[in-house]
Amino acid sequence: MTDRYTVFGNPIAHSKSPRIHAAFAEQTGQNLAYEARLAPLDGFAAAVAGFRDEGGRGANVTVPFKEQAYALSTSLSARARAAGAVNTLTFAADDVLGDNTDGVGLVNDLAGNLGLDLAGKRILLMGAGGAARGVMPPLLEQGPAELFIVNRTAAKAEELVALAYPQGVGARLAAGGYADVSGRFDLVINATAASLSGDLPPLPAGLFADGALAYDMMYGKDTPFLAFARREGARCADGLGMLVEQAAEAFFLWRGVRPVTAPVIALLRAN
Ligand code: ATR
Repeated sequence: MTDRYTVFGNPIAHSKSPRIHAAFAEQTGQNLAYEARLAPLDGFAAAVAGFRDEGGRGANVTVPFKEQAYALSTSLSARARAAGAVNTLTFAADDVLGDNTDGVGLVNDLAGNLGLDLAGKRILLMGAGGAARGVMPPLLEQGPAELFIVNRTAAKAEELVALAYPQGVGARLAAGGYADVSGRFDLVINATAASLSGDLPPLPAGLFADGALAYDMMYGKDTPFLAFARREGARCADGLGMLVEQAAEAFFLWRGVRPVTAPVIALLRAN
């Protein structure tokens, strides 16, 4: 019997997840099939239930259903709870286990593929939506000197920090608007939706430290943020590595086998 998995999203046609998981399965000799499914905007829970009834073993969840996946999970991992969102569902006998592999995916890409040691570094995280919230806890676990959450609507960034860390974590975590950004950063991450509309968040010039990395969670095209960072002399990375790494972590949860990601990232880059 071939075990079946899927990714739910809307839209979903351009998802790279089926190719990534097919490559992982081939590499590790796992017998599984992975497809992409379009869930109706008002029919996510029914789509999940339907796939489960067909014998599906698990599912990834992408935009705009991660909060709904969180709500329908009957059991949540600590990192899913911290993120307030679920991107990986595992179907057990009576349970739907919800996890979130986005944050660890980003950190594994930064540390493993891009060779970044975040201990003692200054990190600027742009955005205060679901994408930013999910990566905040694993970034803090890396022991940076500072994580500054900056958002167009400053109050939303401040709320996000207060919500996730009601007791605070001292000077290591702060939030504000773009006018509050000062000093130089070793890592600047774009977790806003600005790249989708071709916008550049209003970053000040001179914010990259020597050898700094600019990371855009979006992938597939050069973004105004990465173009700005390149002009400012920073090293640039898009979110393709994060995409493959979050998939690898989901694959590990489902199959207990950890695929090697570098050849799969290279394969997707080559296409
Ligand atoms: P996601 O779940 O992908 O994070 P979201 O919750 O809609 O999506 O959040 C989008 C984020 O991108 C927000 O932080 C938003 O800023 P606001 O809170 O001020 O709306 C940010 N964003 C969207 N367009 C932007 C732009 N043109 N410039 C700067 N930030 C932008």
